[in-house]
Amino acid sequence: MFKIAVLSPNKVRMEEIRSILQTTGVPRQVLLLDEGIKQLTPGTDKEYLDLIVIDRLSDGAEDLATLEQLCLRYPGMAIIILCENASPEFLIGAIHLGVKDVLPLNADALLAAVERIESKSKLVDAPRKMGKVIVFMASKGGSGATFLACNLGYVLASEYQVKVALLDLNLQFGDATLFLSDQVPPNTLDDVANNISRLDASFLASSMVHVLPNLSILAAPEDAEHSEDVEPKHIEALLMLAKAEYDYVLIDAGRMLNATNLKALDQADTIFLVLQQTLPFIRDSRRLIHTLQSLGYLKEKINLIINRYEKHADINLEDVEATLGMPVFKTIPNSYESVSASVNQGVPMLKIAKRDPVTRSLEEWSEILIYGTEHKKNNWLANLMKMA
Ligand SMILES: Nc1ncnc2c1ncn2[C@@H]1O[C@H](COP(=O)(O)OP(=O)(O)OP(=O)(O)O)[C@@H](O)[C@H]1O
Ligand SMILES: [Mg+2]
Repeated sequence: MFKIAVLSPNKVRMEEIRSILQTTGVPRQVLLLDEGIKQLTPGTDKEYLDLIVIDRLSDGAEDLATLEQLCLRYPGMAIIILCENASPEFLIGAIHLGVKDVLPLNADALLAAVERIESKSKLVDAPRKMGKVIVFMASKGGSGATFLACNLGYVLASEYQVKVALLDLNLQFGDATLFLSDQVPPNTLDDVANNISRLDASFLASSMVHVLPNLSILAAPEDAEHSEDVEPKHIEALLMLAKAEYDYVLIDAGRMLNATNLKALDQADTIFLVLQQTLPFIRDSRRLIHTLQSLGYLKEKINLIINRYEKHADINLEDVEATLGMPVFKTIPNSYESVSASVNQGVPMLKIAKRDPVTRSLEEWSEILIYGTEHKKNNWLANLMKMA
């Protein structure tokens, strides 16, 4: 059933809104937030909300900052604001944040707006395809696997209308949230493991750091002691849910093979193995590929990513391909200054260095994931056809 929360500083108006929403005979669950927005804090909002109607009687009662927090915390939830004479600044800000409608309190207008949102959500609720699981493995420490997973996720979520989850399964050295955000994670992977019977879409969402409305990260445990709580069966349950909820589930699996990240590899549609063009990386990559193959993972699933690629390095691409017995999927250039700034400030490359060659490579990589490797060829052919 469509679930709507109503927030108003005035109890009489709150009841009025409820009766408007419940007059038409369409079954709707209406929850009155008579104690204000704090009723929605994580932990109390166990259930998913489809829509919140915010009755904003006077300017400033619900400011844009609160709205922004709401949008980030509840990415799938639609928002309608009731307001008699909103200032243009407020309207622009609200629309920017994805607020669906700003209207005066009028029964017909409110019902029409709610019905529009309901019919859209029915389309969205139609059985959706399971999300793609993409695992990033570092051939050895410092290869750039976490940096690439985080920034690829950010580009995918920013440039395409897809919902992305990044799960940090690096139980020893997990640090993924720091690459994109300075927020303190509400929960970490071990909290999810310890509450596995409560695991559902809203518990998962409220445990994650929301970097964008459609990009969320589940942080790794703080330390080795907490990592011990995470068992393979927890990862299995987490991935089942994540695949159903997100279009892309990116996993930072670190550089160790263990029972937990093998569960992630089992579910992987693609494995990106990140290495650099020096002997120690190539040696460890060869070992890792060998182990993965002996564990039964298909060579076709493993894709090599050469990070910090330099065209004139001692070891070239052909050498890497010949030694590892497989083609290189993508090279990412070396860009010390921009990457250091991004990593040190915890700000994604797309934001801090939009025109950097690393960002451009990440954009090409995202395009391949969204459209497939044939896309570029098809485009080229289509253009040629147009010219003929
Ligand atoms: N393309 C690049 N150009 C320049 N520097 C880079 C590039 N990619 C990564 N780096 C640098 O390498 C550092 C290590 O990257 P990262 O932490 O992602 O490695 P990792 O493979 O996840 O290592 P670990 O196994 O320790 O988790 C980053 O902090 C960043 O400064
Ligand atoms: Mg890492």
